[in-house]
Amino acid sequence: MTQEELFKNIISHCKEYGFVFPSSEIYDNLGAVYDYGPYGVELKNNIREYWWKSMVQMNDNIVGLDAAIFMHPTVWKASGHVDAFSDPLIDNKDSKKRYRADVLIEEYVQKTEDKIEKEIEKASRRFGEKFDEKMYRHTNPRVVEYRKKVDEVNARMKSALEKNDLAEVKQIIVDCEIVCPVSGSRNWTDVRQFNLMFSTQMGSVSEDANTIYLRPETAQGIFVNFLNVQRSARMKIPFGIAQTGKAFRNEIVARQFLFRMREFEQMEMQFFVRPGEEMQWYNTWKEKRLKWHLAMGFGAERYRFHDHLKLAHYANAACDIEFAFPFGFKEIEGIHSRTDFDLSSHEKFSGKKLQYFDPELNKNYIPYVIETSIGLDRMFLAVLASAFEVEKLDSAVAGEEGTERIVLRIPPSLAPVKVAVFPLVKKDGLPEKAMDVFNNLKNICRCYYEEKDTIGKRYRRQDAIGTPFCITIDHESLKDNCVTIRYRDTMKQERIPIGKVREIVEEKVALRNLLSSL
Ligand code: GAP
Repeated sequence: MTQEELFKNIISHCKEYGFVFPSSEIYDNLGAVYDYGPYGVELKNNIREYWWKSMVQMNDNIVGLDAAIFMHPTVWKASGHVDAFSDPLIDNKDSKKRYRADVLIEEYVQKTEDKIEKEIEKASRRFGEKFDEKMYRHTNPRVVEYRKKVDEVNARMKSALEKNDLAEVKQIIVDCEIVCPVSGSRNWTDVRQFNLMFSTQMGSVSEDANTIYLRPETAQGIFVNFLNVQRSARMKIPFGIAQTGKAFRNEIVARQFLFRMREFEQMEMQFFVRPGEEMQWYNTWKEKRLKWHLAMGFGAERYRFHDHLKLAHYANAACDIEFAFPFGFKEIEGIHSRTDFDLSSHEKFSGKKLQYFDPELNKNYIPYVIETSIGLDRMFLAVLASAFEVEKLDSAVAGEEGTERIVLRIPPSLAPVKVAVFPLVKKDGLPEKAMDVFNNLKNICRCYYEEKDTIGKRYRRQDAIGTPFCITIDHESLKDNCVTIRYRDTMKQERIPIGKVREIVEEKVALRNLLSSL
């Protein structure tokens, strides 16, 4: 299966099995907005809980907040979003398709990088063990030429974006002979800036109404509450404030399913530190956040850091943690050293002091901030992309040879349903016994009870939603008080006493399995 097919399969699986539905589907969908179904909402809640507990429960110097989505309009003036939260867009006159100009250039750079790696791969095959990769990268004329092009385009783009020189951004597209992926033509409009914030009116009479914005990031709710939280929770620097919640962006190119949505959820943490200590904390949080991702066990090769070429208006250092999605390595989380930009700016615009008195230094200052910001929906997509497998069944399971199953190998602590309970048949007292088992488990985790269809079909349905354990009650169970536990990943089955079920399930699905490795 190609990565493209894999991605398509994940999207249709999400709909068929109740993970994600397109918004307002009966009205032909609302672009780049999605609803989470019965299993999607459970998975999303579990990922959120993993993040929340890793931040707030595992760090005694981080506390939580739930700020409102609507904020005073001046917040967005102070934060720079009214003036600078925009993307450079360009239209192709033939296809009428709209693109982010910087993304078109980034894709061009990525393709050139791919060409370099292909040359290296070819040469490595040709020269075998004698191949000196470092030397080849420095001397092969084609590789050197590609590298020169990549560095040149990156440097031009960085400088153009920093100066907001949109004519130069267009010139790079022209010089690189970038074509529209739909029409194949180079018939481009000029590049324009497009503000990504959604606005609405607050107030009943239109003349009095204020234009307010749907927040494009949750972070500002933390900044404006900095002193409220610090004083009420008696926090001492360094300390953090964590928050999860919806954010809204009128994305120009909203494609790739949950990757780029117009309404999405963020999980953000602002860590307030002494000025001058920010780089040390920036590195600490880079390390801690990567560890959080790795604990889920999807493999270290799926993650990499990417330093920002162009720093946002508020940052003095910034990087992304990128994840290998089916459509390539892309940002899943941002880690930013935001300096004192936000607090200073809110101080200026509000006229209220936002300073901290440091008893050890015996002085007031505006703290510096390290931010970790991860998209919950992107994380959800990453979990599904890593967990989804179409498995060919060979001789491992008797009677299953030559068939295949779809299985979601979601870490048990994050799985939407932890355990399914089945009576083998719908009679002879088995449903009653199975219900006893179900009732004994339902107060520790999300369980599922089903008595319809053959056991094989019931197992398949649970594999497809990622349920790690199935418990079957048969006629023997009435005599020996034992049940069959079937493991999702190996499909192995074991006979265990009913009295042990709760203990086994509780041990394997506990979130502490992930938290304890942090
Ligand atoms: N407060 C900083 C901030 O918002 P960002 O890099 O713009 O930084 C942080 O966003 C994270 O939010 C991203 O790493 C991504 O996971 C998620 N995100 C951003 N835009 C998104 C979108 N349109 N759809 C889904 N997730 C998005």
